[in-house]
Amino acid sequence: ERPIIVAIDGPAAAGKGTLARRVADALGLAYLDTGSLYRAVGLKVLEAGQDPDDADAAVSASKTLTVDDLARPGLRGEGVADAASRVSAIRAVREALLAFQRHFAHSPPNGLRGAVLDGRDIGTVVCPEACAKLFVTATTEERARRRHEELRARGEAPTFEAVLREMEARDARDAARAAAPLRSAEDAHVLDTSNMDVDSALRTALWVVRSRC
Ligand code: C5P
Repeated sequence: ERPIIVAIDGPAAAGKGTLARRVADALGLAYLDTGSLYRAVGLKVLEAGQDPDDADAAVSASKTLTVDDLARPGLRGEGVADAASRVSAIRAVREALLAFQRHFAHSPPNGLRGAVLDGRDIGTVVCPEACAKLFVTATTEERARRRHEELRARGEAPTFEAVLREMEARDARDAARAAAPLRSAEDAHVLDTSNMDVDSALRTALWVVRSRC
């Protein structure tokens, strides 16, 4: 039996993570936040005092990655997000992380019948065969507002303008890179969450999965 694979892509703070987790819970599927892989590589490189644009450093970090690295508390900060976006533009880093992601999708842990993966290139590169694809977006202002609130709730205190600028820089880099740039798959359902609460986004997502998988 083929696993149910749900691909959820989109820019930073569009609501992918929350949505992906809720879809996985509702359908009894495994969940993988693929951004945490790139964040873990970025964090390793920073901790080693190396430069996230240094391909050799980033590739070695991606080859020594373990599952424990994906749950580290330092992963969610802004500095790590920036490093993640830099290491993720290096083609050899993306290739080193590909097999893990595909294996997770096709052989989900705990005998579950499928998996939800969220990221930037799940529907286009990692799992183009996914039965359901969602491209989740929101306006840059709205995403910066959400990210700003999230950072403040965690005790970080950047200004809204700083968060907005950082978000624009990261979006531009993710969309402009040659290796697996951020874009919607042609067969993805586009979901703009700018004026949508989590429950209505979930209803739409579940409808897409149930009608396509
Ligand atoms: O989703 P999140 O913001 O945690 O991802 C951090 C960074 O990792 C993104 O800005 C992006 O550069 C990179 N990423 C990626 N491909 C993925 C997931 C994340 O390039 N599938």
